[in-house]
Amino acid sequence: MSNYHIKHLEEYYKVYRKSIREPENFWEEIAEEHFVWRKKWDKVLDWDFSKPQIKWFEGAKLNITENCIDRHLATRGDKTAILFEPNNPDEPAEHITYKQLHQRVNQFANVLKEQGVEKGDRVCIYVPMIPELAISLLACARIGAIHSVVFAGFSSTALSTRINDSDCKMVITSDGSYRGAKTIDLKGIVDEALEDCPSVKTVLVAKRIKSNINMKEGRDKWLQPLLDNASTVCDAEIMDAEDPLFILYTSGSTGKPKGMVHTTAGYMVYTAYTFKNAFQYRDNDVYWCTADIGWITGHSYIVYGPLANGATTVLFEGVPSYPDFGRFWEIVDKHKVNQFYTAPTAIRALAKQGTELVGKYDLSSLKVLGSVGEPINEEAWHWYNDNVGRKKSPIIDSWWQTETGGIMITPIPYVTPTKPTYATLPFIGVQPALMDEKGDELKGNQVEGRLCIKFPWPSIARTIWGNHERYKETYFSAYKNMYFTGDGALRDEVGYYRITGRVDDVIIVSGHNLGTAPIEDAINEHPAVAESAIVGFPHDIKGSALYGYVTLKDAGESRDHNNLRKEINQIITEHIGPIAKLDKIQFSEGLPKTRSGKIMRRILRKIASNEMDNLGDVSTLLNPEVVQSIIDNRL
Ligand code: WTA
Repeated sequence: MSNYHIKHLEEYYKVYRKSIREPENFWEEIAEEHFVWRKKWDKVLDWDFSKPQIKWFEGAKLNITENCIDRHLATRGDKTAILFEPNNPDEPAEHITYKQLHQRVNQFANVLKEQGVEKGDRVCIYVPMIPELAISLLACARIGAIHSVVFAGFSSTALSTRINDSDCKMVITSDGSYRGAKTIDLKGIVDEALEDCPSVKTVLVAKRIKSNINMKEGRDKWLQPLLDNASTVCDAEIMDAEDPLFILYTSGSTGKPKGMVHTTAGYMVYTAYTFKNAFQYRDNDVYWCTADIGWITGHSYIVYGPLANGATTVLFEGVPSYPDFGRFWEIVDKHKVNQFYTAPTAIRALAKQGTELVGKYDLSSLKVLGSVGEPINEEAWHWYNDNVGRKKSPIIDSWWQTETGGIMITPIPYVTPTKPTYATLPFIGVQPALMDEKGDELKGNQVEGRLCIKFPWPSIARTIWGNHERYKETYFSAYKNMYFTGDGALRDEVGYYRITGRVDDVIIVSGHNLGTAPIEDAINEHPAVAESAIVGFPHDIKGSALYGYVTLKDAGESRDHNNLRKEINQIITEHIGPIAKLDKIQFSEGLPKTRSGKIMRRILRKIASNEMDNLGDVSTLLNPEVVQSIIDNRL
């Protein structure tokens, strides 16, 4: 019997138990029955968390695009694979069938080859949410090039850091992008970034906003004429199961962003299997994930997971507020969307608009609602459930990470009874553990601790690009033989998990992970700044917002503080992007420090969150007197 599609709770428990007792047999069956391989594996799993080393389906040969495209041609060739909904609602939607996708990916793949991209080369993709974005990922995968997508909202500095970290040979971009009523000069940002990216030889430019841009002779090329001349036939490169498929950067608590490396076979099997079950996708459904492909959610659940199941996946260029806050609901109504996957921050922003707009549209097509990226608060959960799902569509609060590649803890809709704010049960094959501060596992229910995973699942990231030591240090050193997630969680009386938030210095703002260190580094570049510390504080819409404490070199300086605040946010925008701007900036004489000179962020976090009652003992600090002055001047 196939375990590919789980339909009721007893089945979930049965399959779950099997996946834990005999993981190799379990994943082998799934891999065997539901994918096409050029050669089967010699060994299902080889792992050692102490090195760490993880290999799934070792020895197998495949190409992920044959699984995502070619194999559907016979049965679903004329089915819409990608449904593109443009920023402007008056521009018609584009339905790209599996046949057309096949041709376009092949043409693009041939262009990459013509331009000198080879198997194993890194290609940076800095493209807005237009079909070329999804197609460029698949074109890289077709020829075995490793894609590194950089979210097209990142600044030129953030872009160049990522390009240089993995020595990308090529950048794919567009002349610009639409974002609501605004246009953004993406190519200008790329030009700036490339001033210090010696590895980049070629820039391919898709035309989107038809703006007049500079094209650098010999380096920059318009994409369309190259595509027009390219053959629609491109044999897929045969890849090893463990060949890297892509690199995707994520923030760490310290240091530069981490290029998480995902490999081919395990990633494919796990994203496809989770997609099928977590969304209960049926053959004629229209599925929509509102994330950007620049994040892992878009990689796994706009592109690879849906296409591996032959699904119709919506790709939306715009924003929830344009032309008004009814846009999401208008799209659900227009395309009769069946599964809708978004982030709590979007739900909160839409909830703030009341119920009039959401009430105007026919949302009866919806069967499953999803949430991802940060904890969903109870109020947002109920608003989503009552007004979008009309109490009929289960909400899957899905917990996972860039590093995990796919959904790890989630209800399976119509299978797992949901509970507001709980991600509920581990997905098939996932073995969570809660650990206490001493490093012991907390057994039983009704416990709270640090969330770890005890056993590898197929789509775990294999390393950090160019820095395996850091991979080991970050994820496998805190607890012996465990993958440490960086999140806290609790397990309730029936074994349901609730994610309580990050336990490190990563702050999630509007669903985007931001490390505090790179923001502080950016601020400290301001000539007037001596030192800074960033903490998160609760925010109605963003979930968390950033609060910065800044000490100036010359405390008595008479400069206008509001101007300084603007300048600081400007520097942050240049170094990272507007998503990392601070909501509040407090200038203080000093920052509370331990005797060894470490900034006590815990105290600053409490002050920013207005929880001054339980600051704890501050008398052991190096400079206890600053605490009161920070409290007195709190914003
Ligand atoms: C947080 C996004 C609570 C968590 C797929 C995790 C969540 C980080 C949830 C990863 C959820 C994600 N409930 N918290 N349902 N989903 N998170 O790498 O802190 O962008 O570690 O991957 O987001 O964010 P990332």
